[in-house]
Formats: sequence, C-alpha cells, structure tokens
Amino acid sequence: MTIRLHALQHSYSAVDSAPLPALGPISLEIAADEFICLVGPSGCGKSTLVRIVAGLLAPSAGHVTYMGAPITAPLDDIAIMFQAANLLPWRTVLDNIALPLELAGMPLPKRHQIARDLLPQLGLQQFERAYPTELSGGMAQRAALGRVIVQAPQVWLLDEPFGALDALTREKLSLELLRLRARSRQTILMVTHDIAEAVLLADRVIVLSQRPGKLVADIAIDLPRPRQPDLLYNSDFLRLAKRVRAAIELPAQ
Ligand SMILES: Nc1ncnc2c1ncn2[C@@H]1O[C@H](COP(=O)(O)OP(=O)(O)OP(=O)(O)O)[C@@H](O)[C@H]1O
Ligand SMILES: [Mg+2]
Repeated sequence: MTIRLHALQHSYSAVDSAPLPALGPISLEIAADEFICLVGPSGCGKSTLVRIVAGLLAPSAGHVTYMGAPITAPLDDIAIMFQAANLLPWRTVLDNIALPLELAGMPLPKRHQIARDLLPQLGLQQFERAYPTELSGGMAQRAALGRVIVQAPQVWLLDEPFGALDALTREKLSLELLRLRARSRQTILMVTHDIAEAVLLADRVIVLSQRPGKLVADIAIDLPRPRQPDLLYNSDFLRLAKRVRAAIELPAQ
C-alpha cells in the first residue's frame, strides 16, 4: 500500500469555543496504481483529509503513512491541486507551470524545456507566453494540472480540480486527466461533488458521512478502461452511480 490512513482524525481548535470535529476517525489504504474519488456532503472534512495527506496540516489524532513512513511535512512525491487554479498573474503559462521546478532550484533552460514538453498534452501549446487573465477557466485548470505533473510526483491529490467549470468542460478535462495519467499510473486521490465524474474516473469511490467525515462506503468501480464518455449511459455505470448516491444520502448515524 502506498498511502495508509490510520485512525485519522482532525478537529479545528477555536479560541472561544470547543474544538470543531471535522474528520474521522477514518482508516483507509490506497494502492500505488489506484485512482480514488472521495465524495461526501459539503463540510464533511474532504479538504481536511487531503491537506493532511499533503503534509500541509497535522492531524489531531492518528496518522498517515506514505510507503510506510509517517507524513509530517510536504513530500516531493506528493503534489496537490486545488479548486482555484492559483496561477501567478504576472507570470506566463510556461513560467507558472515551471514554478515548482524553479522553487527546486532547476536552471531556467532546463525547467522551460520540461514545462514546454508538457504543453501539447495539456492542449496549451499555443499559450506558452499567455498570461493567466488571457485564459479560460478550463485552460487555467489545465495549467494548474501542468504545475502538478511537471513535478513528476507519484501521488496526485486533486481537491475539486474541475469544480468551477461548466459540465461539458469538466467532462472533457476529466477524461484528459485519465489520458495524462495513463502512462505511469500515478496514485490519484481526487475530491469531487460530481457522482458521475467519480464513477467515470475512479477505481474506487470512497464516501464520507456528514461532518466529522467517517467512511460510510467503499465502492469498487469495476468498469473497463479506457473509460469513454458513452459509459455515462451504460447500465452498469448507472447502477454504480446509484449506489454512490444512496451512500451519500444515508442518514447520519
Ligand atoms: N481552517 C479552518 N479552521 C476552522 N474550521 C475549519 C477550517 N477548515 C475547515 N474547517 C471546518 O471543518 C469542516 C470540514 O471542512 P473541509 O473544508 O475539510 O470540508 P469539505 O468536505 O472539503 O467541504 P466542501 O465539500 O464544502 O469543500 C467544516 O465544518 C469547516 O467549516
Ligand atoms: Mg473542500
């Protein structure tokens, strides 16, 4: 197992009131080649979970391991992408994508070369010198995804990466995500509110309960790959989507 959550729990402390339990306890094992989608009601602790796995937040109890070692700080092998693209407005697309390499001290020609090689796969080859304000929402998310991929991490943590996009653009981008990943089968943990998106992409859909989010269902998505958009109308797909929906709508325990 690549990532293991061991009785992970988090409460946010407040100055003038009791701590707010946000997540868990939750235990979960993720294999190296798995694509996991995490769904659950708003505020149930999904982003909290992802931030803990990214090493950005220390849990109140329990722990997460990566390849057997506890995660206590951000790791080179694990990259995170948020709902907002968070591109730097004064930098070109190329320099935004190359940013993690720059932070790692890579010289300019080399980091530009690596970022440039990625542009065609991202559908951004015409936009190397464009600035973020010149991009559509979908293009900005592609650039943000490029900033993850350029780091060549083994684990991609994606927190509602396409949440702000229209339905058709997100469907297109999510299938592109599968293609981008296809070569090296990275581990992906992706948060989404969209049940169809979760079933279309994942090997397993993990459903969390209302806050503090606990695991209520772990649903294997045994649909063939490569996944295609017409799968959305297939009866096995609909059966799985219904199971996910039923689990999300379970009454709080
Ligand atoms: N920095 C923080 N300080 C205090 N409380 C927080 C903080 N971040 C999140 N919370 C609270 O913790 C709970 C879980 O938040 P979290 O953002 O993890 O949920 P989520 O499942 O990602 O929600 P959404 O689907 O709306 O993105 C919420 O009740 C939220 O208000
Ligand atoms: Mg969230």
